[in-house]
Amino acid sequence: MNYNQPLKEILTSDGFEQLKKGHPWIFKNHLKKDFSLPQKPMLYPLGEHWFLLSPQSNIILRRLGPSTRLWPHENLERTPIANLSDFETHFSEPLFKLLKNTFEKKQRLINYDSCFRWLFSENDYFPGLIIDVFQDNLVAQILSAPIEHFWPVIKKLILKVKPNAIIHEQRSHPIRLKEGLPIIADTQTLSKDFKWNGLQWNFSILNNQKTGTYLDQKENHLKALSWAQKLNVKEAWDVFCFEGGFTLPLAKENINVLAVDSSNQALENLKKNALSNKIEKNISVLKQDAFFFLKEQFNAKKKTDLIILDPPPFAKKASEKFGALKGYKELNLRAMHSLNTPGLLVSCSCSHTISRNDFLKMLGAASHDARKQVQILDVGSASPDHAPHTCFPEGDYLQSWFLLVS
Ligand SMILES: C[S@@+](CC[C@H](N)C(=O)[O-])C[C@H]1O[C@@H](n2cnc3c(N)ncnc32)[C@H](O)[C@@H]1O
Repeated sequence: MNYNQPLKEILTSDGFEQLKKGHPWIFKNHLKKDFSLPQKPMLYPLGEHWFLLSPQSNIILRRLGPSTRLWPHENLERTPIANLSDFETHFSEPLFKLLKNTFEKKQRLINYDSCFRWLFSENDYFPGLIIDVFQDNLVAQILSAPIEHFWPVIKKLILKVKPNAIIHEQRSHPIRLKEGLPIIADTQTLSKDFKWNGLQWNFSILNNQKTGTYLDQKENHLKALSWAQKLNVKEAWDVFCFEGGFTLPLAKENINVLAVDSSNQALENLKKNALSNKIEKNISVLKQDAFFFLKEQFNAKKKTDLIILDPPPFAKKASEKFGALKGYKELNLRAMHSLNTPGLLVSCSCSHTISRNDFLKMLGAASHDARKQVQILDVGSASPDHAPHTCFPEGDYLQSWFLLVS
């Protein structure tokens, strides 16, 4: 096998074009029929790139690193690397640099807050690995077969960047099944206190629906407060509130919040967080299905000044998009009806299959049906520690719309 074989001879024109535009993935069906890959996870050279090989996944190759300049090209023979000691010998130095630079960059971007996402898979040019930092505790989600294979070396590099870290490894994400990896349930629990977004929080960093909390909404939590203050909001409903990411900053500034979620555990933690910030008098919680809640408020003609809608992803696959948009429309339509005017609607989607344009059309249809004028004040995305890169649209999954309803 000639690993320097021109990519055009190996890839279909679609695959070649995608790679040329900087996208980091090669799908199985991007490989020409007479080209086969080994059946074990490894690092595989193709063209001028190094790819992480996931033999069982449809996304069979994911490019490691942002550019070819990062790699030890000159002296390194371009043959696949499966062996851990070869990987360590040749790739420790560039990967250490990538991890260290990313760590330092993220700290600057999030103003040295104690909790942030250090590494976000393809968004940080390290496919298959997510690392969230909660002071000295790190939660590492191991998502792909090659990351699992090279993990002992990667773990050493993480500890070299942050020597005092305690690393908690998570292997419970369902995406692992597509990689032929087992799912291991999170049984350990660990709660810790943190100062985050200017407030006191207790996060369960293990055995939770999220590693700790929705770090990606950090900036939007504060934006919601800032718009609420400009619009003189006195009371709000935080629908799909989880542990109070939006609720607490609002309540801290004396806005009365009704926080609604279907998870008992999330609401219990929200109450604890409210107590430790001494703002419990401004918050009521309600365990209820959000669709039912909004319907009830609508039927009872109840209204408020600000409604936040931050549901879980409704469309994880393209085939679920139509149903998802119907769900988003129902929520937004009901919310628009239930706002005092002028009122503020914060409407979010974390479904990566729903584009901003899809969401805008849905909002347009909802406002038309609700007979409301709805103006876009701002559209937020994920916090900068989650920033997507321009060649990987799949990494741009979060949209938070700040809407003036009158
Ligand atoms: C994306 S999270 C919300 C994050 C939160 N807004 C924050 O910024 O921290 C979605 C929340 O919706 C809740 N949830 C899921 N389905 C629900 C439903 N049908 N009704 C009410 N809550 C639901 C989950 O328990 C979860 O807490």
